[in-house]
Amino acid sequence: MHESNWSEANIPDQKGKIIIITGANSGLGLEAAKALCKKNATVIMAVRDAEKGEQALQEIKRETPAADITVLQLDLADLDSVHSFAKIFHQKYSRLNILINNAGIMYPSKREVTKQGFEIQIGTNHLGHFALTGLLLDLLKSTPHARVVTQSSLAHLNANIRLNDLNWEKTYSRTQAYGQSKLANLLFTYELDRQFKANHIDAMATAAHPGITRTNLMRTSGFFVNLLTPLVAQKAEMGVLPILRAATDEHLTGGEYIGPNKLMGIRGYPEQVRSSKRSHDLQLAKDLWSLSEKMTGVHFNY
Ligand SMILES: NC(=O)c1ccc[n+]([C@@H]2O[C@H](COP(=O)([O-])OP(=O)(O)OC[C@H]3O[C@@H](n4cnc5c(N)ncnc54)[C@H](OP(=O)(O)O)[C@@H]3O)[C@@H](O)[C@H]2O)c1
Repeated sequence: MHESNWSEANIPDQKGKIIIITGANSGLGLEAAKALCKKNATVIMAVRDAEKGEQALQEIKRETPAADITVLQLDLADLDSVHSFAKIFHQKYSRLNILINNAGIMYPSKREVTKQGFEIQIGTNHLGHFALTGLLLDLLKSTPHARVVTQSSLAHLNANIRLNDLNWEKTYSRTQAYGQSKLANLLFTYELDRQFKANHIDAMATAAHPGITRTNLMRTSGFFVNLLTPLVAQKAEMGVLPILRAATDEHLTGGEYIGPNKLMGIRGYPEQVRSSKRSHDLQLAKDLWSLSEKMTGVHFNY
């Protein structure tokens, strides 16, 4: 990778680029929307609560009055909502330069499920984004140099994929279920990038993680996480840099994983980092892909 201490200043002008950011009303998604609006992108904030989205949009407009930004409702925990988002997006736009799969939920206080009955973390963090990407694939294919960028986590490192019980119906661990969903984000990214290349599609997939960043994510994490997080966590303006680099660095060719470069990946400037051996397991990626197609009913038509 070329620049060290890569920052927002390194983002090239994004004028003319249409960018969807999921979870753009809060934390890292909001920060990414702010940065990309400053670089003249057309930003679509895909948010589950339109009112929260509108408030975030106003906050962005106060900082960047000329921001070209729109709110569109999307609940990743409901495949019907994912389908209607994709339908409305197709009616309004004829291309998609960058899809940022950022939204996420971590450690709900008890096992919860999505509208279709998926465990909420795999359902929101992976399956919802899998379906969204598949339903927008035609636009990604027809837009030159399109990118799909997905937010993972250090939590993928010790995780595995429960192919026989992806929804944690037999036993439940909220921490392992989160780890599984974040490993799924990486297996998805690498497989998608391989499929783009194998099908000679002018698009790429990259992934990022923000180390540990102060956002609203930890609100249901419990006493100890809430006590310890402020001691090590970085600000959202730093934590957002990996996903911004994964989305905009023109030196990337696909399949890269970008994360903070200091303190075992907890904080620092964004650089290419290594993910677990399991995240590169080709068979596991294919098995997860088939299962995700079966569970969501969304098939990728290259
Ligand atoms: N912060 C960290 O230290 C950290 C570390 C590793 C990875 N990450 C990842 O970074 C991403 C962003 O998290 P964050 O830290 O910015 O947390 P955050 O402030 O809680 O933001 C999460 C966003 O995801 C949205 N979201 C949750 N469920 C959704 C659903 N069903 N449909 C649509 N949107 C949904 C939230 O919407 P509402 O506001 O309506 O809830 C919110 O906009 C997540 O993927 C997370 O796993 C964060």
